[in-house]
Amino acid sequence: METQNKLEKIVALCKRRGFIFPGSDIYGGLKGTWDYGPLGSELKFNIKQAWWNQVVKSHENIFGVQAAIMMNPKVWEGSGHTTTFNDPLVECKVCHERFRADNEEEIKAHGEMHAKKKEKVEWTEPKTFNLLVEARLGVVEGEKSLVYLRGEITAGVHVNFKNVVDSMHPKMPFGIAQIGKAFRNEINPGNFTYRSREFEQAELQWYIKPDQAEWEKWFSYWKEQRMNWFLGLGMTKDKIRFRQQEKSELAHYAREAWDIEYETPFGWKESEGIHDRKDWDLSRHSQFSGQDLSYLDPETNERYIPWVIETSAGVDRSLLFFLLDAYTEEDERIVLKLNPKIAPYKVAVFPLLKNKPELVEKARSVYNELKKHFNVAWDDRGNIGKRYFSQDEIGTPFCVTIDFDTLGEDGSDKKDTVTIRDRDTMKQERIAISELKAYIQKSLE
Ligand code: GAP
Repeated sequence: METQNKLEKIVALCKRRGFIFPGSDIYGGLKGTWDYGPLGSELKFNIKQAWWNQVVKSHENIFGVQAAIMMNPKVWEGSGHTTTFNDPLVECKVCHERFRADNEEEIKAHGEMHAKKKEKVEWTEPKTFNLLVEARLGVVEGEKSLVYLRGEITAGVHVNFKNVVDSMHPKMPFGIAQIGKAFRNEINPGNFTYRSREFEQAELQWYIKPDQAEWEKWFSYWKEQRMNWFLGLGMTKDKIRFRQQEKSELAHYAREAWDIEYETPFGWKESEGIHDRKDWDLSRHSQFSGQDLSYLDPETNERYIPWVIETSAGVDRSLLFFLLDAYTEEDERIVLKLNPKIAPYKVAVFPLLKNKPELVEKARSVYNELKKHFNVAWDDRGNIGKRYFSQDEIGTPFCVTIDFDTLGEDGSDKKDTVTIRDRDTMKQERIAISELKAYIQKSLE
C-alpha cells in the first residue's frame, strides 16, 4: 500500500492548481465541505458526463430526472431514513472526539495517538446517531417547518416513478437516473473528499419484473457495466475490485450489495455500490403516500410492484480515485495521467515567445479554432519546458507550440504546421494545423 503521503501531495496539488479548496476557506473552513475550483469543476463535469453517457445515453429505456433536494418530510419516513439511517457513535472520554463505532482503523489510530502521549483512551458506549441533516423552511420565525436535506438522492427518483411511467410510458425493464447533491451528518469526515458532509451522487434505479431470473441477469449486467466504466476511463485494473457487503453492513433498504472498491493509500475503499433494493422503495412510498405505485405491464397485463437494482456512485469519490490513480512522479516532473475524456483541458496552446506579435497572433488563431471543439488552455508564461511541466501536472494530454516554422519564415517548408507534444510519452510530432482537431478528437474516442 502506498503511503498517506501521496494523499497529502494530492491535497496540496488540488489547492495549488485550482482543483479543490477547503470549503469556506477564508473563514477557517467548515469540516466535511469542499469547494471545486476551475479545474476541479471541469474534471467533475467530465466525470458526470462520462457517467451520463454510459448509463443514460447509451440505453434506450433510461430517463433522467432532477428532483428537488428539499422534500416533504414524510418522504423520509416512507424511505425509512428517519428511523434507520443511523451510524453507531462512540466518543473518546479523553479528548471528546467522536468516531463511528464500526470504524476499527480510526479507533485504533486514535488509541495509538493517545498512547504515544502516555494517555489511556476510554470510550463511551456506542449510541445511535441519525445522519440526516435538518433544515428549517418557511418565512415566519417559530413557524418554520423541519425539512431534511436528502441523505441519498434515491427518494427523488422513486417518488417520481408514477410521473415518469405516466409521461414516458416505458416498458419493463427501464431505469431512472439522477445526479445530484446529498448531505450526511457524518460523524467523522476525513481523508480529503472521501468522507464529506456534502457530496454528489450519480445513481440509476433500474426497475425490473419481480422475478429471480430477471434479477440475476440484470444484477450481473449492471455490475459489469459499472466496473467497465472505471476501466474504460483508464483506472488501473489491479487497483479496483468488487467486494460483497456482509449482512451486518447492509443499509436498511438493501437485501444484497456489492461495492466497487479502489486501493487508496488509506486502504481498499468503497467507490460505489450496486444494491438489490427489491420492492422496498415503491412499496414503502405506496404505503406512506397512499398512492398506488404498482406497474401495469402492457405486455402481460399483470400488475406488480417492480424490483429495483440500484447503482449508486459517489462523484467526489470517483474523482478522488481517478486523481490517485493518475498521479505519477517521474524524474523531475509530476504528471496526472488522466484519461483525455475526463482531463480538464484537452490541449494547451503556446506561442514560442510572447513578445513576438506574429507568433502570438498565429497561436491565438489556433487557440480560438480549437476552442470551438475542446476546452483549451492558453499559456505564454516562462519557457516552453516549464509550460509543459505545468500542463503535465494538471493532466493536459497535449501541448501545441506555434514557432517560427509555423509562420513559414525564411522559406520554411513547415508553414502552418505545429509541434504537438504527448503528455505521457513526452514525444513531439510535427503536424498540420488543419489536422489538429482530428488528432485530438481521436484521443477522446
Ligand atoms: N442510494 C444508495 C446510497 O446512497 P451509499 O453506499 O450510502 O448508497 C453511495 O452511497 C455512494 O455515495 C458511496 O459509494 C460513495 O461513493 C458516496 N458517498 C456516500 N457517503 C459519502 C460521503 N460521506 N462522502 C462522499 N461520498 C459519499
